[in-house]
Amino acid sequence: MVLDANSLGSYLVFRKLEQNVWSFNRQVKRLAKDLGISQELAEAQVIGRFKNGKPLLSCETDDYLGNDFDFKNDVNGRSCPFHAHIRKTNPRNERDHFDIEPKTNIGRIVRRGMTYDYTENKRKIDLSDQPKKDVGLLFMCCQSSIEQQFEQIQAGWCNNKLFISPNHLKHGLTGIDPIIGQHISGRQMQNWNTQSSRKRRSFSNVVKLMGGEYFYAPPKSFLENPIPIPNTSPKLPGQPTDTPPGYGGVNYSTTGYYQPSY
Ligand code: HEM
Repeated sequence: MVLDANSLGSYLVFRKLEQNVWSFNRQVKRLAKDLGISQELAEAQVIGRFKNGKPLLSCETDDYLGNDFDFKNDVNGRSCPFHAHIRKTNPRNERDHFDIEPKTNIGRIVRRGMTYDYTENKRKIDLSDQPKKDVGLLFMCCQSSIEQQFEQIQAGWCNNKLFISPNHLKHGLTGIDPIIGQHISGRQMQNWNTQSSRKRRSFSNVVKLMGGEYFYAPPKSFLENPIPIPNTSPKLPGQPTDTPPGYGGVNYSTTGYYQPSY
């Protein structure tokens, strides 16, 4: 919900993210070869989970597909690299280990994604023809503060080579998020795990931002049952002047229904 406790709505971020499947597969193949590991493990080091959902943590059982875990047994990033998409976007308890501020839940979002495909009829549904464009994700997330949540994740963490970098003097910078990290130019290096050590390799440019927008989403209760309230500016003859409790921070339309302020 938005920070004004009376408004009851949420701020919604929408982004159209084009995915280059060909480039993703090519970079995974190259990475696996360079690190001497399987392609499945290389992919998992990009995301932080295997394709079946299992988190990349040695302490979890083989069949654990859940969400109730943290990185406290992996403070060196030897199981799940620090740059992995789920570790960048949701550092879980890293705030305690690495003194990340703020300690609160800032940087959490409610996510929903919907894939798009302009050429669905012409192509294989499993994407095995490896499209370079015209497919991707319509990304949406809700929060109370876009600055402290979505922008913190995208700009403060994913685009930030230093985040999370407890050992960057020893191992080199963590690097950007290989999926959604944005950068201006040049190769983007991250630290990847081989069977016994680490190697610096680059993985980037698989997702392209095609556009997006920030919205205010009124609460469902309002959309289902708009409450007629008075117009206060200018006042129309015969209208009551009291504002009903619980609806601060809104504008009033001349129709007598209140409208959220954007
Ligand atoms: C095309 C772009 C993207 C792809 C392919 C992608 C892919 C994924 C995948 C495979 C997962 C793991 C499974 C899951 O938890 O759903 C994930 C998790 C997540 N992603 Fe993304 N994602 C994309 C964009 C974004 C963006 C733009 C954000 C926010 C800035 C984001 C934030 C997250 C978060 C917060 C999680 C959950 C992390 C956790 O709690 O462990 N993703 N994403």
